[in-house]
Amino acid sequence: MPDKNHSIASWHCGLFMHMPCMGSLDVLEDALIGVDTHGTIVSVLTPADADYRDTRQTAQNSAILHQMSTRQLMIPGMTDLHIHAPQWPQRGMALHLPLQDWLQQYTFPLEARYDDLDFARRVYTSLVKTLLANGTTTAMYFATLHEEATELLASTCLELGQRAYVGRVAMDDPGQCPDDYRDADAEAALAASERSIRAIRGLDGNGAARVKPVVTPRFIPSCTSELLNGLGELATRHQCHVQTHCSESDWEHGYVQQRLGKNDTQALADFGLLGRHTVLAHANFISDHDMQLIREAGSGIAHCPLSNSYFADSVFPLRRALEKSLRIGLGTDVAGGHSASIFNACQHAVASSRLLESGVDTRVPREQRGQSDARIDFLEAFHLATAGGADVLNSPTGSFEVGRQFDALLIDLDKPGNPLDEFHHASNWENLLGCIVHNVQPCNIETVWVDGRALSPLIRTPAGTI
Ligand code: GUN
Ligand code: FE
Repeated sequence: MPDKNHSIASWHCGLFMHMPCMGSLDVLEDALIGVDTHGTIVSVLTPADADYRDTRQTAQNSAILHQMSTRQLMIPGMTDLHIHAPQWPQRGMALHLPLQDWLQQYTFPLEARYDDLDFARRVYTSLVKTLLANGTTTAMYFATLHEEATELLASTCLELGQRAYVGRVAMDDPGQCPDDYRDADAEAALAASERSIRAIRGLDGNGAARVKPVVTPRFIPSCTSELLNGLGELATRHQCHVQTHCSESDWEHGYVQQRLGKNDTQALADFGLLGRHTVLAHANFISDHDMQLIREAGSGIAHCPLSNSYFADSVFPLRRALEKSLRIGLGTDVAGGHSASIFNACQHAVASSRLLESGVDTRVPREQRGQSDARIDFLEAFHLATAGGADVLNSPTGSFEVGRQFDALLIDLDKPGNPLDEFHHASNWENLLGCIVHNVQPCNIETVWVDGRALSPLIRTPAGTI
């Protein structure tokens, strides 16, 4: 047995599927994964390894062996790179409106209510539990501009065990933000954002920084240039992640060009907001030059395909961005997207890429209708949802390699509520994973681990419902 075994807290044995690199699904059959007391994967053994049998026996004798059944398998936890926590009660509401009207008529009035901490607690508890039950082990959240409710969201993630990135939203432009939901001015917004960074880092139980603060200018239209400059400086000074919306729709992209005479990406770079720890939501209208800036900065993109169907006026050029080696993961963009599931985001990423490839107007001849080679397949989507999202965040998660944190989902194919039984006849592992990515429901996600810690007792009632 390896020397490090004294610190191994648990061994998981069975079928594992993960995709550390785009392009190749790695399937580990009857593998043994050892996780230490910090939740780090310290050993991955297969039956071909000389010490496999002894290790397994010793783990069993020490009662630290978790043996999966032949109807179960593990995949890495999902990462949601872009979600608005306060919009949880707004799912599926008024999605027929254009983005700017939806924000003004529905979203801002709802977000303004989060000065009520009882309301915030109810919403955030329900949200984080539901995301975990849907397999989202890491989420990058926009909160609201309220410091206390933002801290409450962060502490809810800590209590319930989710890995999270939480941003207090900054928005100070009186021309674009309502009077009752706006930072008083740039100075006040910067002070509040800085306090929020300190408060989240200092939360009880956050010594390991499982919940991290994020500098969060809502988007360029809602922020003055003074604020955007200040937030760039704040992110650098505090070594913080940054998140914002970028070139999302015709209106938003055009607004920034008109105000600043450049695209969002260049503007964010000029404000000091485009770095290795920046996550750009949407980025639908980015040019080749913008892509080059994003790649050089090492920033990432949160592709939110369902939300884009409603608000983007376009389909994100995912294949083109992948070919340019950009970092990309998936986001639900709740409530621009109405689904909490990153598995659903995988399905929509595939479907929208297919529509981009085929084109949509049947009056146009087939050969002129779409963009050739724009499609992605479900395996590529699975990579984006796991290792891709983790890479964007520079997070040691997303795969089962030694050195990664054990953030994992136990998938059970035999649940009466959604038997995936018939799919067990799948002719190969890829087909089985395809069936899971397209059909899994929360009832099939038997247990969720974050940092090696099993969370299911916290997220399910005794009856097994969410
Ligand atoms: N742009 C600025 N705020 C928002 C938001 O809340 N949702 C979406 N989809 N786009 C935005
Ligand atoms: Fe969004």
